[in-house]
Amino acid sequence: MKSHGQNPFSVTGKLTTTPLPLLNLLSYLFFFVFGLTFGIIFCFHYKSFSFNLQVTNGQFSIFTTRSLVNNQPSHLTISSSTPNFDTPRRSIEVRWSGLNEMMSEEELLWKASMIPKIKEFPFKRVPKIAFMFLTRGEVILAPLWEKFFKGNEGLYSIYVHSDPSFNGSEPEGSVFNGRRIPSKEVLWGNVNMVEAERRLLANALLDFSNQHFVLLSESCIPLYNFSTIYTYLMNSTQNFVESYDLLGPVGRGRYSNRMGPTIKIEEWRKGSQWFGIDRDLAIEVVADKHYFPVFQNYCNGPCYADEHYLPTFVSMKSGATNSNRTLTWVDWSRGGPHPSKFIRTDVTPEFLMKLRSGSSCEYNGRKTNVCFLFARKFTLDALDRLLRFAPQVMQFNR
Ligand SMILES: *[C@@H]1O[C@H](CO)[C@@H](O)[C@H](O)[C@H]1NC(C)=O
Ligand SMILES: *[C@@H]1O[C@H](CO)[C@@H](O)[C@H](O)[C@H]1NC(C)=O
Ligand SMILES: *[C@@H]1O[C@H](CO)[C@@H](O)[C@H](O)[C@H]1NC(C)=O
Ligand SMILES: *[C@@H]1O[C@H](CO)[C@@H](O)[C@H](O)[C@H]1NC(C)=O
Repeated sequence: MKSHGQNPFSVTGKLTTTPLPLLNLLSYLFFFVFGLTFGIIFCFHYKSFSFNLQVTNGQFSIFTTRSLVNNQPSHLTISSSTPNFDTPRRSIEVRWSGLNEMMSEEELLWKASMIPKIKEFPFKRVPKIAFMFLTRGEVILAPLWEKFFKGNEGLYSIYVHSDPSFNGSEPEGSVFNGRRIPSKEVLWGNVNMVEAERRLLANALLDFSNQHFVLLSESCIPLYNFSTIYTYLMNSTQNFVESYDLLGPVGRGRYSNRMGPTIKIEEWRKGSQWFGIDRDLAIEVVADKHYFPVFQNYCNGPCYADEHYLPTFVSMKSGATNSNRTLTWVDWSRGGPHPSKFIRTDVTPEFLMKLRSGSSCEYNGRKTNVCFLFARKFTLDALDRLLRFAPQVMQFNR
């Protein structure tokens, strides 16, 4: 009895009367039908979900995608610039943005916050700079940027967050073509401006080659050529987030007591919205679920979250590695809520030279007069002069 119970296959003993080949055939058939049924059920159930790991051209990215069949593109407003599938180049870009369009914001930020535990890259990784443009419509001075980027392919990535109502399209062959990320409405002074910045960062973080992240506006210009800016950012030991403590109504006056105890008034900082940060800090920003909700809840309207969230967060989180200055020159000297705009007649070689080297600051612990790499705000009618002077003044030699 004991030995019988120990043999789990003893039941087969009773079947030995059946011819063996027939038994085998029957069991194969049974497993085949079972497998087929299971497979069909599994396929239907998970039709809308797939998990892909992709390593292409040194670009590493993880996608979980939901097919259009069962899921509404619910969380993100799809940019109205529906790209067409006419050309191969475009369809690659469609895939790139199409995937992100299907992702919820939460999913996007979560994916962007991943850090590989193995520090060595399994492929040759050339670090890139992510140029992230926060715009209403098109990048006004795109032709100048085209000149700036020319010949530096592989060393940069471009991301554009424009107003969802913008329906223009960038010309074929432009570096901006297909680089728009799924966007939501941004209101001046509203906390949703910071949400857009985090969306840009998250999209850029999905490309593991991006090492430095620069936020720019549609009216920004570069003040140096690509190689100078690349070296300056890549070699910097510090981040560039302007951050200072300011008493009075436009500084600490914008703090609300409801932000405590998470954020204390003496921790409240102010600074320019236009930043340049490295990958480690960018990950901290998209992963912040502690301080950012406080801004979402209590820093709206005349609080101007875009001037306070990053300056405060960076000062609390990694103040020691911050230069506390911005790389983007702007002129506030005329007063008012908006900085000066520069038109055609303002643009002269002397003016540009002054922006390039008319200041003094520290870089990697040494005094320098290369403090600003970008400047704003330039209007469309300044474009032809900028294009004319750039080769000579900014040394766009390629
Ligand atoms: C783009 O939007 C504008 C209004 O903002 C509208 O007048 C125009 O017809 C739209 N163009 C296309 C191609 O949808
Ligand atoms: C960074 O600076 C060092 C000198 O401090 C220089 O030798 C090196 O070439 C620089 N790196 C880049 C990428 O330019
Ligand atoms: C920037 O400010 C932080 C405090 O927020 C400070 O710890 C750091 O030393 C400052 N950096 C520089 C370069 O002054
Ligand atoms: C970029 O500008 C620097 C001076 O700022 C110059 O020395 C360098 O040759 C220029 N690089 C290219 C590729 O033109």
